[in-house]
Amino acid sequence: MAEVSKDSYQAINWNHIEDELDKATWEKLTQQFWLDTRIPISNDLRTWRGNMSPEERELMNLVFGGLTTLDTLQSQDGIASLRKDAVNQKEEAVLNNIQFMESVHAKSYSSIFETLNEKATIDEIFDWADTNQYLQYKANRINDIYQNGSALEKKVASVFLETFLFYSGFYTPLYFLGHNRMLNVAEIIKLIIRDESVHGTYIGYKFQLGFKKLSEEEQTKLKEWMYDLLFELYSNEEQYTHELYDGVGWTEEVLTFLRYNANKALMNLGQEAMFPDGPEDVNSVVMNGISTSTANHDFFSGVGNGYLLGQVEAMDNDDYDI
Ligand SMILES: [Fe+2]
Ligand SMILES: [Fe+2]
Repeated sequence: MAEVSKDSYQAINWNHIEDELDKATWEKLTQQFWLDTRIPISNDLRTWRGNMSPEERELMNLVFGGLTTLDTLQSQDGIASLRKDAVNQKEEAVLNNIQFMESVHAKSYSSIFETLNEKATIDEIFDWADTNQYLQYKANRINDIYQNGSALEKKVASVFLETFLFYSGFYTPLYFLGHNRMLNVAEIIKLIIRDESVHGTYIGYKFQLGFKKLSEEEQTKLKEWMYDLLFELYSNEEQYTHELYDGVGWTEEVLTFLRYNANKALMNLGQEAMFPDGPEDVNSVVMNGISTSTANHDFFSGVGNGYLLGQVEAMDNDDYDI
């Protein structure tokens, strides 16, 4: 074999795999590829206009405004910052896939807004998201770690964002899904949750690889930092949740759901739970919402040269648990 000079530009070779999990994640993510434009959101219009109170409509709009901010952060800054620390070329390729899907997630909310709301209302939602103090606090706190943190700190920030902070927003569509309302909107949210579940597992796994290489002293220091950060984010999330959910009276149950997901984020990072809350404590309507099958729309249809989009698999609690 010819000697490869140091300044040669290295072609990615998928026939030489450094870490099987890179390949398995690439395959899983490409199989579950989807686009917002394939979900018939307008089928929810009748429910939106006839079966949702103005308060419920506003809540839905605001949580999606918040989620737009966080997915924008992931697509613009989050994944780009993680990619700088990739340990091999396949990891970079997986992160490329993740980054594109974050753009799909962020755009999905605009598709929902466009279908359900007038332009003036949409502008109000974006004004709210760009100025809400608690939402801005978490976005900027996480982004600061993306810009200035170490490779391992950035992974913690990403897993906290995707496995924990998103869930104050996801609660609303899952709650309505559990009550058989806004089913197509919920379908989009479940596709996003399914992606995030793989992202959280994968980035958490990469964190654990690096964490194992640290000295015991460095591990203790990083753990302290991690739990402090989680607690700080939870305190902010409590205020965000009060602001959004006090009006409909769901604040306490949303906070339970958040603590349960905070534990899941720690689990993805290979760490011990921080809160006593388990799945049995979460509102069962919302848990049922998570575990219902993901419906098939036109995912079987051929696109281009006989290329088939991945079939959407039924989603169950195990998927959520990855
Ligand atoms: Fe996302
Ligand atoms: Fe993600």
